[in-house]
Amino acid sequence: MSQPLFEKVAFIGLGLIGSSLARVIRAEHLANDIVASTRSQKTLEDAKSLGLISEGYADPVEAVKGADLVVLALPVRATQKVLEAIKPYLSANTIITDVGSTKGNVVDAAKAVFGDALPEGFVPGHPIAGAEHTGVHAGKVDLFANHKVILTPLPSSAGWAVDKLIQLWQAAKAEVICMDVDKHDEVLAHTSHLPHLMAFNLVEQLAKREDNLDIFRYAAGGFRDFSRIAASDPQMWHDIFFANKKAVLNAVDGFEQQLAIIRKLIEDEDSHALMGLLGHAQAARQHFNHMLAKKPFMEKNKVTQQFTIQPGAKKFQGKFTVPGDKSVSHRSIMFGAIAEGATHVTGFLEGEDALATLQAFRDMGVSIEGPKNGEVTIHGVGMQGLKAPQSAIYMGNSGTSMRLLSGMLAAQKFDSVMTGDASLSKRPMERIAKPLREMGAQIQTTGERGTPPVSITGNQNLKGIQYDLPMASAQVKSGILLAGLWAEGETSVTEPEPTRDHTERMLRAFGYEVKTEGNRISLQGGGKLVGTNIQVPSDISSAAFFMVGAAITENSDVTLEAVGINPTRTGVIEILKQMGADIIVENERIAGGEPIADIRIRGTRTLKGIHMPEDQVPLAIDEFPALFIAAACAEGQTILTGAAELRVKESDRIQVMADGLQTMGIDCTPTEDGIIIEGKGKSGDWSPIFTGGEIESHHDHRIAMSFSIAGLRNSEQIKIVGTETVATSFPTFTELTSIAGLPIQVSE
Ligand code: S3P
Repeated sequence: MSQPLFEKVAFIGLGLIGSSLARVIRAEHLANDIVASTRSQKTLEDAKSLGLISEGYADPVEAVKGADLVVLALPVRATQKVLEAIKPYLSANTIITDVGSTKGNVVDAAKAVFGDALPEGFVPGHPIAGAEHTGVHAGKVDLFANHKVILTPLPSSAGWAVDKLIQLWQAAKAEVICMDVDKHDEVLAHTSHLPHLMAFNLVEQLAKREDNLDIFRYAAGGFRDFSRIAASDPQMWHDIFFANKKAVLNAVDGFEQQLAIIRKLIEDEDSHALMGLLGHAQAARQHFNHMLAKKPFMEKNKVTQQFTIQPGAKKFQGKFTVPGDKSVSHRSIMFGAIAEGATHVTGFLEGEDALATLQAFRDMGVSIEGPKNGEVTIHGVGMQGLKAPQSAIYMGNSGTSMRLLSGMLAAQKFDSVMTGDASLSKRPMERIAKPLREMGAQIQTTGERGTPPVSITGNQNLKGIQYDLPMASAQVKSGILLAGLWAEGETSVTEPEPTRDHTERMLRAFGYEVKTEGNRISLQGGGKLVGTNIQVPSDISSAAFFMVGAAITENSDVTLEAVGINPTRTGVIEILKQMGADIIVENERIAGGEPIADIRIRGTRTLKGIHMPEDQVPLAIDEFPALFIAAACAEGQTILTGAAELRVKESDRIQVMADGLQTMGIDCTPTEDGIIIEGKGKSGDWSPIFTGGEIESHHDHRIAMSFSIAGLRNSEQIKIVGTETVATSFPTFTELTSIAGLPIQVSE
């Protein structure tokens, strides 16, 4: 077993916060020993019988002997006395921290004891978590989970001490923020201390009145909400107000000035200005709400996974049905949700991206049955039936969900916030926010690069626009058209090149008229969708990995059944054909409004390098990572141009693929809008093309699957890290590759 973070932890004070942290340390095995000192003998006995501490002492000196972490979890005013007592027993590598609500006075207390030479291990802290209950029994192991903990390292604090405390609090699942002491006290004075002071003071103001009983009896929600925190512990707040006197007085001054302003507006009956002030405050409150709901990203606690593929020749054969189309699955839920009546979906992709969309609509009050074996029934709520979600909508890795929903949510009566995982949080959202704003939406993206979280203020009247798409993006096109469903008049989008048209096709299947005239797609707002049955075809983007796998493997023979061959998606077939692959598209038919076919590929000849046709780029946009693997196995050079969009997918697919290819011994040069790959293939020679090595997938499912396919022609072991995202689009990937003859070892 690895060494715990600490040898011995000593708590001085063991109330709600202290005992909760002790529970975390126990549960996570972060220390070999935990002891405590409190004034109450009963607390110590209780803590012992709860199994939180091995020993309890009345005298803090006894507790800290030999401790490498001392946590002061006692009222702040007692800090100096305790530090004086324990000072002789602290060693150079003891970490001393505290959990008090104010920090300047804790530092002052330490300076009074240690002088200016504060111990290196002294790092004050403030977990912003609490509850109505106090005491050792009230502690909870998850008290700090998803709460903020502020550490205020001092110039004297050592990096190792700060690092260890960060690890400790992260083990408690808290979000750790480091801040300067003064800044902490100023921020808390405004966000916590002033509101408490005002609550106490308001209750006092009302309680002093002679008719107080009546006032309290009739006081409705506003008073109850505002005064809730006046029920807090007076001693604690007395201490805090004194401890943070300077910053609290500043905050009170600011309050008085603002109070005078609003007082005067009422006195002067300045209606215009008063409306301005109230409206501004209301908007700011909404904005704070959004900010409170959103985080830079909310990665679910997902286990990271890796794939390992051994070297050696492999066969690649069989008939397979790959899972349902991701684009069609997303849309089936979205359109089913706003339709009138029920929609029944078969072949639904039970991958995380489409499930994120499904969850989003459940969060907005739509009743959805399934998915079970690819079947989903959505009980549509109609165009006006979506309800405000309780909190931010989490879109995981899915750009399609976020961009299409931006359009839908911009038109709703309620506010909403969308967040995503580490990959989605880096992807551009202004491309959809900008045209939506032109339609009258109020939508904010984050940071200079306009990334998620996306924050939408509802209840805006949208107007149709004519939009010339600056980039070939089906997601942006779809987001605008979806907003157009609620907009006044006509909404139209003109594409620079045709992109996947599932939105147009499926809206028509739901009975909504959509016009396509050349590259211009338009619809009129104000109509309705009628529930229908949707049959989701197999995803050509998932089939692509098997197509490339078969194309680069000698004597392979793979058939992919019932694959969607919508002409806006078949670039991969065209490009592989141009590279000389042996592909037959057979048994073409229509299913659920989309063309499907069986695709058979055989490894009969070596591929050849080509200049990939630019007009096929939007039609193969998701398949390039796999096609780069094909290009590496081809004879001669392959050049891709006009594909800058690849840089803003789940990862920068040009750079990440180039890095991985180079790791595996392929000579390639990334360019601004494409790549040049020197194929290593030789006609009639099926020996390994790739060496091996460790590949980082950068949270991108298609990167992970592409390099897996390279495992059909490797001379050394390939390890791909971060493969958990494969579940976003192709949850059965490794199962099917193993059956075909490419065993992939999956480990966590
Ligand atoms: C998609 C459109 C494409 C594609 C994505 C799915 C869709 O994205 O890459 O996987 O379902 O509309 P862009 O619109 O960004 O090109």
